[in-house]
Amino acid sequence: MTPRVLLYGATGYSGRLIAEEAARRWGNMASPTRSAQLVLGARNATELGRLCRKLKLEGLELALDNRTTVVRALSGFQLVINAAGPFALTAERLAKSALDARCHYVDITGETDVYRRLDDLGFIAYQRRLVVVCGAGEVSAASDVLVDGALQELKRKGNLNPSEVGAIRIAVPRLEAQSRGSARTAIRWVREQVPVARASSADPKQPYARLQHVPIGQLERSFDFGGKKGRCIASGVALIDVMSAMRTARRREVVARTIEVYMAMNAVERSSYQWAAIASPWLNLPLPLRWSEMLADQLPEGPSPRERERDRHTVLLEIEDARLQTVIDWQLDTPNCYDFTARSVVAVAKRILCATADEIDASLRGWRTPAELLDAQALLEASPNDEMPYPFTDSSLTRRKG
Ligand SMILES: NC(=O)c1ccc[n+]([C@@H]2O[C@H](COP(=O)([O-])OP(=O)(O)OC[C@H]3O[C@@H](n4cnc5c(N)ncnc54)[C@H](OP(=O)(O)O)[C@@H]3O)[C@@H](O)[C@H]2O)c1
Repeated sequence: MTPRVLLYGATGYSGRLIAEEAARRWGNMASPTRSAQLVLGARNATELGRLCRKLKLEGLELALDNRTTVVRALSGFQLVINAAGPFALTAERLAKSALDARCHYVDITGETDVYRRLDDLGFIAYQRRLVVVCGAGEVSAASDVLVDGALQELKRKGNLNPSEVGAIRIAVPRLEAQSRGSARTAIRWVREQVPVARASSADPKQPYARLQHVPIGQLERSFDFGGKKGRCIASGVALIDVMSAMRTARRREVVARTIEVYMAMNAVERSSYQWAAIASPWLNLPLPLRWSEMLADQLPEGPSPRERERDRHTVLLEIEDARLQTVIDWQLDTPNCYDFTARSVVAVAKRILCATADEIDASLRGWRTPAELLDAQALLEASPNDEMPYPFTDSSLTRRKG
């Protein structure tokens, strides 16, 4: 039987891109060769109807207010993709309902507090033989695959003592044009301190890095983004890449003393970010919050196809050994963040749907990071003249070191 997949938040900017990508990859309802039956879900019936007619897909009008209704609605699906953000408002309700309805859950959140809250569902998912993947978009799928590939390669070549890695650092550029939904999410984001992972050598029973928080503005470092961007100063930010890298390092039995995530910002952006953090208790009062949301409402819904084509994305990975010598300095250039997100979430969902029950039982059930469902080896082994494997199509990997 063709598996049924619900894409929730399909009427949003990212939801529509995912719907189009999934329809292209899986075939639409009219196609006899479809590999999954995609159903579009949203709370706004008018918008949903319009999109379903355009893509010739079935629709499901669903609000998340009533848990029983949501569980009942999800019970006919094998997998739900959540693209409805800010995820602080949707992820917990949808993920819990999905597990109750015996349905796999995948989302594209980049919100660290959401990741921490959902993380607790991993055990329930494991018991119920279900898969939960949080952050299957550009944040944090691309960096997670890089970290996983780099750690495997360093271990294989014997270039690193896995019980003593000095640092894993991930850096991304600021998006030139972001969607209205990303802007709304970023309003919540500035009030958070920056999560970093630190390992204490004083406690041999706890060798793996644990999550700590540092104030915004405390971490600054320069990274070489290559090309026209060149070397830029970047500030530590609250993105879930730090959490997926922590899990991936642990899965690969690598003890990293520090794991940090940075975003390139110019001097004005860095000081605005720090001022916004200082003012965040005030900015989160109902009136200023409403005002900043109204400002976000004025933004275009997201970058145009031409802007997306122009604004490609980059993920940098630096790994240092225990003597702080750089052993990995890699640059992954991907298509625009929103296009890559659509591809990576579709690839993650497809991997889950294609897994056999034995495979799910043996290695996939429970909480998984994107790298456990995307093939890091295929990315690393692709030669420069080959087409990169999906979802890294149109991407390129530059290895400056390692
Ligand atoms: N991980 C990544 O790399 C990545 C990439 C892209 C986007 N994102 C994240 O994805 C999220 C969505 O971005 P977007 O650009 O698609 O935003 P958007 O255009 O504003 O779309 C948001 C969607 O979520 C729905 N929604 C919001 N709150 C809801 C609620 N309480 N209940 C039910 N539905 C709700 C909206 O429905 P209505 O129209 O009814 O409000 C809409 O369909 C953002 O948080 C963004 O940061 C992450």
